[in-house]
Amino acid sequence: LKKVGLVGWRGMVGSVLMERMQQEQDFSLIEPTFFTTSQAGQAAPDVAGKDAGVLQDAFSIETLAQQDVIITCQGGDYTKQVYQPLRDAGWQGYWIDAASALRMDDDAVIVLDPVNGEQIRRAMAEGGKTFVGGNCTVSLMLLALGGLFEHDLVEWVSPMTYQAASGSGAKHMRELISQMGAIHASVAEKVDDPATAILDIDRQVADFIRSDDMPQQQFGVPLAGSLIPYIDSQLDSGQSREEWKAQVEANKILGSSNAPVPIDGLCVRVGAMRCHSQAITLKLKKDLPLAEIERLLDQHNEWVKVIADEREVTMRELTPAKVTGTLSIPVGRIRKLAMGPEYISAFTVGDQLLWGAAEPLRRTLRILLA
Ligand code: HSE
Repeated sequence: LKKVGLVGWRGMVGSVLMERMQQEQDFSLIEPTFFTTSQAGQAAPDVAGKDAGVLQDAFSIETLAQQDVIITCQGGDYTKQVYQPLRDAGWQGYWIDAASALRMDDDAVIVLDPVNGEQIRRAMAEGGKTFVGGNCTVSLMLLALGGLFEHDLVEWVSPMTYQAASGSGAKHMRELISQMGAIHASVAEKVDDPATAILDIDRQVADFIRSDDMPQQQFGVPLAGSLIPYIDSQLDSGQSREEWKAQVEANKILGSSNAPVPIDGLCVRVGAMRCHSQAITLKLKKDLPLAEIERLLDQHNEWVKVIADEREVTMRELTPAKVTGTLSIPVGRIRKLAMGPEYISAFTVGDQLLWGAAEPLRRTLRILLA
């Protein structure tokens, strides 16, 4: 059995990864070692009835170097601190990482196997050792639109995102709920009294949201009852870092970095818990019938599901509330736009912690073990 070291397994993405690995019985195929940045020596978790001994020090290059594979959800700072010294010490193992730190390195493959499984297998066959999960919006968009990219039908894409609180982290998810609760509490009596004028309620809510009583330590501004049209840091290009990732990462995954498909849009944080949504405008290279577009999208992988562009089914199926906690990637609102027959709209939703983060990592491990 391959020795697999797990780092950052207790955090949010790591916990989702652990759950999925247990569901899919991945632990029966490996000899796991659990690493910790702070609690070395304590008992390791009991996974699938396996005794994994005690937690090992995640900063010990010597202990890390004993692993055949290391999977880390510990974050970019950890990767930056440990990865190079580990390689410099001569470690030849496989590094599978959720963080973005190594994503654009030449010798790293961004993993999303329903889209680039061949690229992943080829890299492994040629001695590639570094595999990194993509940015969540990029992975979710490519799973939804894979059928069009696969047939080289896309001239450009503009994804406008509606990104969940989970993309910022666990504390941010808590804060979103606190904000919702605090808003309600600030006006609950009036809401319950049908005689109260809605504009009075609205004024009171607006005053509260703008006040210091609104919890906003994590986001810095209100999210509940509002939105935040900026994600990650500001770049000189005018893009946010999140927006910049779309084109560079998607084209790296698609193997088209030399002649990249332009992909650019605005990334917006909304008050969803863990599902990112994206409103897509795309230009096809040629005029295709809608039925053909839907067929190509639907057939691309086993998770994508075309939702008919009808009100009832769209409201029921194409939402974060429906998709959360699942691997399903619904894509709907597919129609031709008024700009011309090659201009297509689409709307897609996906779980940011599953396909957006944890799932590609465990699937890469499975490819390695196959
Ligand atoms: N950067 C993403 C977000 C999450 O902030 O939603 C990580 O891919």
